[in-house]
Amino acid sequence: MALWGGRFSAGPAESAALLSRSVHFDWVLAPYDIRVNIAHVKGLAEAGILSQQESDKILIALIALGEEIEAGSFKPVAADEDVHSAIERGLTSKLGDLGGAFRAGRSRNDLVVTDFKLYLIDHMIAIGSAILPLVEEFTNKADEYKEAIAPGFTHLQHAQPINFGQELAKHAHALLRDLTRIQDWLSRNSISPLGAGALSGSALVPHPENSADDLGFAASHGNSIDAVSDRDFVTEALFVMANIGVHLSRIGEEYTLWSTTEFGWAVLDDAFSTGSSIMPQKKNPDIAELARGKSGRLIGNLTSVLTMLKGLPFAYNRDLQEDKEPTFDSVITLLTILPALTGMVETTSFNKERMAAGASSGHALATEIADFLARAGVPFATAHEISGRCVQVAESKSLEVHELSDADLAAIDARLTPDLRSTLSAQGAIASRTSIGGTSTASLVKQIHSLNKSNQNLIEYFDGKRSDFLEMINV
Ligand code: ARG
Repeated sequence: MALWGGRFSAGPAESAALLSRSVHFDWVLAPYDIRVNIAHVKGLAEAGILSQQESDKILIALIALGEEIEAGSFKPVAADEDVHSAIERGLTSKLGDLGGAFRAGRSRNDLVVTDFKLYLIDHMIAIGSAILPLVEEFTNKADEYKEAIAPGFTHLQHAQPINFGQELAKHAHALLRDLTRIQDWLSRNSISPLGAGALSGSALVPHPENSADDLGFAASHGNSIDAVSDRDFVTEALFVMANIGVHLSRIGEEYTLWSTTEFGWAVLDDAFSTGSSIMPQKKNPDIAELARGKSGRLIGNLTSVLTMLKGLPFAYNRDLQEDKEPTFDSVITLLTILPALTGMVETTSFNKERMAAGASSGHALATEIADFLARAGVPFATAHEISGRCVQVAESKSLEVHELSDADLAAIDARLTPDLRSTLSAQGAIASRTSIGGTSTASLVKQIHSLNKSNQNLIEYFDGKRSDFLEMINV
């Protein structure tokens, strides 16, 4: 059903209609469209454009239509251009001419952006809620492995020994930052565009702040043209989702690496790995790999919408219709990856002996020698130099630096006394990193405590947001 046509002598060409059509993807906005139309009809009644009786009839029909949509008994047909046209068709079939009365004073331009914003608010809350169990898993695993020793890497080369719990807890921090980005997004974007009309505001509904309030927004827009042209809330959400995707990708990369035969650290559960159709022995980390692979489309979706927006004059332009598919794709992609990755993290176990075996190799304790000298008052540049010489001597003897004898060390520099031994081991090195946020078990226990606290606060926050939203959407 077309929502326009009075000034045209003929309908659009088939090819033009095909290009214009969006109902096959924007139908997911239907429940939000019903809700926004309800708020708008209430505004028309308040303003006296619709009588109480008319508005009651329309509201009852909108609610009934919403139920049919939810049940799947009302669906779009080929002739519907978009979700808004399909809903007006449904309403007209129930109410006759009155079915077309509800769109007085609003345009699809303010309607679509309001629908889309509600969709994104709903789904950003859902994404936040799906990240929380992953944060919890990493925190629990960090606790489980808080005494495990492993080599730490920079440049993917042995660097310094670390507590493996520290390695797992780092992911909780990255994801918690993503959650605060969602919080920030939710608070900045709680502005209703409804009432902006096509671009200039509404001559019929003077108080858009009432529908803003009714829809659960914190405020109404401050400029009608900005309200219909702004898609910052979309690009920001796409960035937040892309950044989450990049975190999940890097997590995927680590698990993939850790599960190789060469590393032999991670043992993936059968339920979260797959086999090969030709090589019977294979157990592949596909979940980790898909988390890594799918981040590409999340970044692409952000780029696609930014590129679509960059040349647009600030008002509604039909190009804006292209904001939806990439966004729906990012949302669905994340909501699919998150539970699978959480399950994988929960069920993966690590081989502590194997990790500990390599913790000191690659001269990973060289920093301990330099730190020992620095503590004894040697300028760090000199200490670094002396430690470097120890590595050289160790290499010439085919030893690790911590395997040099007391005599070897003393011959390199007299200040390298046997006291050095207390930190010249992976355990000693780790235990000495007692700085806040450091890798000692003592520091990690404090870190885990604060991660649990942040997680608990965020669980309460997202649960609260979820029930506020459901209350708002359930008319
Ligand atoms: N399908 C359109 C979109 O997503 C709805 C708004 C159409 N507005 C218009 N003036 N043609 O942007």
